[in-house]
Amino acid sequence: MLVIGEATQLREMISYWRKEGDSIGLVPTMGFLHEGHLSLVSAARKQNKKVIVSIFVNPLQFGPNEDFDTYPRNAERDVELLDKAGCDVIFMPDARTFYGNSFQSHVEVENLSKILIGEFRPGHFRGVTTVCAKLFNIVMPDRVYFGQKDFQQVAVIRQMVHDLNFPLEINMLPIVREPSGLAMSSRNALLTSEQKQQATALSAAVKTGNETFENGVHDARLIEAAARKVIEQHAPGFTIAYVVVVDAKTLSLVLDKAKDSDVLLVEAYADKVRLYDNIVLSN
Ligand code: PAF
Repeated sequence: MLVIGEATQLREMISYWRKEGDSIGLVPTMGFLHEGHLSLVSAARKQNKKVIVSIFVNPLQFGPNEDFDTYPRNAERDVELLDKAGCDVIFMPDARTFYGNSFQSHVEVENLSKILIGEFRPGHFRGVTTVCAKLFNIVMPDRVYFGQKDFQQVAVIRQMVHDLNFPLEINMLPIVREPSGLAMSSRNALLTSEQKQQATALSAAVKTGNETFENGVHDARLIEAAARKVIEQHAPGFTIAYVVVVDAKTLSLVLDKAKDSDVLLVEAYADKVRLYDNIVLSN
């Protein structure tokens, strides 16, 4: 496995692979890897000849008062895990050289980026789509892999890929959970043990929401209320940002009755740590 920091060097490697006819899978990450990331690498491993994992804590997607400085990092451990997982190349650029001093171009998916998470984190998705557009242009992968935990992120990136004709396939893999049900996330490391215990309320909430739907209650507001109640009861220290049933593609609020394939999205935060969970409703 190679660790490459320069985009030009990575492109040389990729053009060699392309001449050999190799397919390429890309797993974009911000490092501090967990089982969720490794499930993406494993899917990429099965479907492509070569697998590239990018590790880059992208400053553009953090607001001025957000956790860029405290975002957990452990490059050495990440390299070990990816070596074992069968990754071919880790792309680990340096923020200064990756963007350069004169950087001034951004990619923005206008509407999807402003709702839900975007309402609380203005500019966040603009940073995500800009870094992904750069990564897609550098790597030109056949397939890209993201986790369902970040459902809105995947919807925003799908829209960008569609709008800007990136010739690649997006794969969204299921949420990987800890035995407690908590969705795996690098940010879980920032929680106290009490917060971590309370955070399991998010997975319990989406489960309850789906059970409500399964039991024949299809009114979206009632599904949301059942899920919200679980968080209020079991995570009293958390602030709920939203609990909503939305259309899976447009992420617009389901106004009346929910149907199979609508998604229940929840976001809550403990101090400054934002936590997400979701479930695709199914009977
Ligand atoms: O999900 C993440 O880790 C990041 O938002 C991503 C997609 C790697 C872009 O920086």
